[in-house]
Amino acid sequence: MLAATPPMGWNSWNTIGHGVSEEVVRETAEAMKRFGMRELGYEYVVIDDCWSHKEGRDKNGNLIPDAERFPNGMKALADYVHGLGFKLGIYSDAAELTCAKWPGSYGHEEQDAALWASWGIDFLKYDYCHAPGDQTTAIERYSAMGEALRATGREILYSACEWGGRAPWTWARNAGCHMWRVTGDVVDRFDTTLDWGGLGILPALDRAAHLHEYAGPGGWNDMDMLVVGCRGMGHTGTGCTDTEYRLHMTMWVMLASPLMCGNDIRKMDTETAAILLNPEVLAVSQDPDGIQAEIVDKEGPLETWVKPLVDGGVAVALINRGHSDAEYGIHADDFIFEEEGPKLVRDLWARSDIGELVEAFPVEVPAHGTVMLKVGE
Ligand code: GLA
Repeated sequence: MLAATPPMGWNSWNTIGHGVSEEVVRETAEAMKRFGMRELGYEYVVIDDCWSHKEGRDKNGNLIPDAERFPNGMKALADYVHGLGFKLGIYSDAAELTCAKWPGSYGHEEQDAALWASWGIDFLKYDYCHAPGDQTTAIERYSAMGEALRATGREILYSACEWGGRAPWTWARNAGCHMWRVTGDVVDRFDTTLDWGGLGILPALDRAAHLHEYAGPGGWNDMDMLVVGCRGMGHTGTGCTDTEYRLHMTMWVMLASPLMCGNDIRKMDTETAAILLNPEVLAVSQDPDGIQAEIVDKEGPLETWVKPLVDGGVAVALINRGHSDAEYGIHADDFIFEEEGPKLVRDLWARSDIGELVEAFPVEVPAHGTVMLKVGE
């Protein structure tokens, strides 16, 4: 099954924007391989907007890769990325133009899907700028591309990006999509909503919080690309602290969101790598049951989120939205376990066992930060 667990990879938009090129894609895939990201589950290298010739199609109506930035064409690039063990993703829009006003695929669904399949493309992000706002049209347009992708006979993971305005969680799976954005664009800020709709980490979390029943193997609520390690570069904002990035990663994992890195992997620093590449945290994301976390407790700025895991244990995220460090903790009656008795408590970021839960287990949660635990099993 495609997207049996939340898809993982990298997307060019956050840091590369309009300048995406075969060089950037090749170097990024090489860097991902060097960092051992494939073994950790990061699989898709996704080219976002602006990859094609801006002025239109060739005489047969086919999209053409930008000749300066993709001089060797997409087939050669797909072969190269596949040779490194990754899959290649591409981008289009369900209207005549993409968000950045490059050619879109409306009315060319079958032709474009067949072209991508002939190049060896494995993933399509399908945006919704310049398309009519009503839900019926969105369902029609996403379904048309879903059918066109299916008709190619190639396994192509289908990622819808209409930002959640038309409740895609209720219909995108039927339209053939494996993930659907539930947020506007996430920017590199902690707790801000921008005039144009850009969301910081906390407001984006709030958009996904109530959607747990729609996530599961084959279809996921997409909270948008990660800004972990973007450090204020690109168009995405002012930057966050590592503590804030850790909360961001924790909650995208807990809510079973796809994990598409948005930072420049070629220049990834040690602190960013520690957040994106922690195997115990990623194991929670890739848990085969694919259950999206729910909130079970809230005291002012402090919240407890729980995600049941396949082995009978639970992942627990304690988060602190407030501006000062706080004493918090977990309680045995926050959880239901099949067997009674003390439960092992493991700190997943520290990767160490820190005690046993009998009735209550206190922890300190840093301001704007998180403690992520595994309890039981
Ligand atoms: C929209 C999407 C972004 C990105 C840009 C590209 O804003 O939400 O994720 O794809 O378009 O123009």
